[in-house]
Amino acid sequence: MTVTIKNETDIAHMRIACRLASELLDYITPHVVAGVSTGELDRLCHNYMVDVQKTVPATLGYQPPGYPPYPKSCCISVNDVICHGVPSDEKILKNGDIANIDVTVITPAGYFGDTSRMFIVGEPSIMAKRLCAITYECMWKGIAQIKEGATLGDIGAAIAEHAHKNSMSVVREYCGHGIGQVFHEDPQVLHYGIRGQGMVLKAGMIFTVEPMINAGKRDLRTMNDGWTVKTKDRSLSAQWEHTVLVTPTGYEVLTLSAGYPALPDFIAASA
Ligand code: MF3
Ligand code: CO
Ligand code: CO
Repeated sequence: MTVTIKNETDIAHMRIACRLASELLDYITPHVVAGVSTGELDRLCHNYMVDVQKTVPATLGYQPPGYPPYPKSCCISVNDVICHGVPSDEKILKNGDIANIDVTVITPAGYFGDTSRMFIVGEPSIMAKRLCAITYECMWKGIAQIKEGATLGDIGAAIAEHAHKNSMSVVREYCGHGIGQVFHEDPQVLHYGIRGQGMVLKAGMIFTVEPMINAGKRDLRTMNDGWTVKTKDRSLSAQWEHTVLVTPTGYEVLTLSAGYPALPDFIAASA
């Protein structure tokens, strides 16, 4: 496993890439309403990246080993879709839906910024609202562990403990990842683990924390398009994602912007 330590130049470029990714989600937020198709949201994101930001959508044509090329400029995962939902003009958002929009931009300098948020369409069920809120807390509980000398196991354990305490399950097949001038690089950031175990964090590492939490069981199945991943038991699933820099005393969340939602109390108090 080769984990890159970013230098000050890399970090400056990553601050820009990640802020742009977060600003893209700020831009799309007012468009996420009942009646819009996920295909239309994808077109809006694509055009904002290419025409306004002058960034490139990292997912368009992305093809990891064993996958077909990804056909769209973002992922939109609705209700029981865990991740990699492929936007489509046939998929219309309706009142009460929960949707994750996951975007990754590449700047002209060649740096990747990766972030996702949950969006609630109209009036959600109590359960849907709770799942989105707990998953948000799970991501921030994981991030709160980050500092030089902590371990990847500390992050995973904090996330899983919070999910399990709230009777929710953690998806194990997908994880966070190192990121920089490459979309997905080492380390793998599991969203479960054992405190004190796994790789020791060093200042200058940059990786994502992106827990996928299910209201039911953790089991999943992949659809015939080769990308869309759903819960096996059809229960709701939620995900939030940040790209984070490890610092000597803690962390710097890179994927923040003016429109980012309020931080949880346990983070706001320490910030
Ligand atoms: N943005 C996703 C992540 O957080 C990866 C999406 S790859 C795609 O790592 F091809 F599905 F878009
Ligand atoms: Co990611
Ligand atoms: Co992402």
